[in-house]
Amino acid sequence: VPAQIVPASDEAIAMAARLIRRGDIVAFPTETVYGLGADASSGWAVSRIFIAKDRPNFNPLIVHVASLAAAEIHVVFTPDARRLAERFWPGPLTLVLRRRKDSTVSLLTTSGLDTMAIRVPAHPVAQALIAAADRPIAAPSANRSGEVSPTTAAHVLQSLGNHVSLIIDGGPCQVGVESTVLDLTTGKPTVLRPGGVTEEEIARTIGAVWRAREDEAIKSPGMLESHYAPSIPVRLGATSVDRREALIAFGQEPLSGAAAMRNLSPNGDLAEAAANLFAMMRDLDRPEYSAIAVMPIPDVGLGRAINDRLRRAAAPARGR
Ligand code: TXA
Ligand code: MG
Repeated sequence: VPAQIVPASDEAIAMAARLIRRGDIVAFPTETVYGLGADASSGWAVSRIFIAKDRPNFNPLIVHVASLAAAEIHVVFTPDARRLAERFWPGPLTLVLRRRKDSTVSLLTTSGLDTMAIRVPAHPVAQALIAAADRPIAAPSANRSGEVSPTTAAHVLQSLGNHVSLIIDGGPCQVGVESTVLDLTTGKPTVLRPGGVTEEEIARTIGAVWRAREDEAIKSPGMLESHYAPSIPVRLGATSVDRREALIAFGQEPLSGAAAMRNLSPNGDLAEAAANLFAMMRDLDRPEYSAIAVMPIPDVGLGRAINDRLRRAAAPARGR
């Protein structure tokens, strides 16, 4: 049965909450990307996420809760964690913290780790859904494994239309890249995945921040997946373009001569670029182009999250 896209309304949220409570999966908007949500306390419900996404492994998922107080039921807050939560929640920051032994979150949600990734989303629809379901909600991005994350309800339909019964449409996602995943369990606050909250902003709140090396990404198994990959090659740092290529441009002087072009931000605004990134990659992912060429993006602030996703998109596919 193909999915139904329903505009966000009180009734749609109530319906989605009922589905979640009975163990179904529902796609819903967050400020970062659309999520595929299930009751995080039910292993059976969470297993349906892995089936729908066709994930090769059971990667640990992010648990979405309504507030810092709700998060404290499941994880142990360090002083840094509390400062960051007070500063950035609700918002696109995921904290990896020690799991409480009495947390009701299913071990499948956390892949049996003694840590848990948790965040409070800012999108009003996500907030309302968590409140109505009255459950912690496990939610990866609502795309099949290996595809770029969805930033509109239509993207979710294209990707998971036959695997999810309800997609709540809350319009395009404002941030456009996933949350920053910050590990606070090692004594060295480490960014495992750059995202919507920048390293610079985190450093301003807690001081020094480390960046995961490639080999450390094993701690965050989801990072190894060939996520964010279009089906045609992606060529980064383009300073010229072939006429069979599609171009993702950035800034006031887009290269000319490509078969097609999208500009992430004509004004060179990184927030606008992040919000446009996945939709433009999807638009240009067509077999008639030989590749997607991408102009250089400054590697600061949100540019780091954008470049991280672009590198993954350009990397050869792994296990697909
Ligand atoms: O913006 C987002 O974070 C979106 C929206 C829907 O909230 N969700 C999302 O989930 O991107 P997902 O499953 O695609 O990415 C979760 C990331 C993965 O890289 C995973 O490895 C990491 O979080 N992660 C989850 N639990 C972890 C843990 N206990 N320790 C380290 N990394 C963890
Ligand atoms: Mg994902």
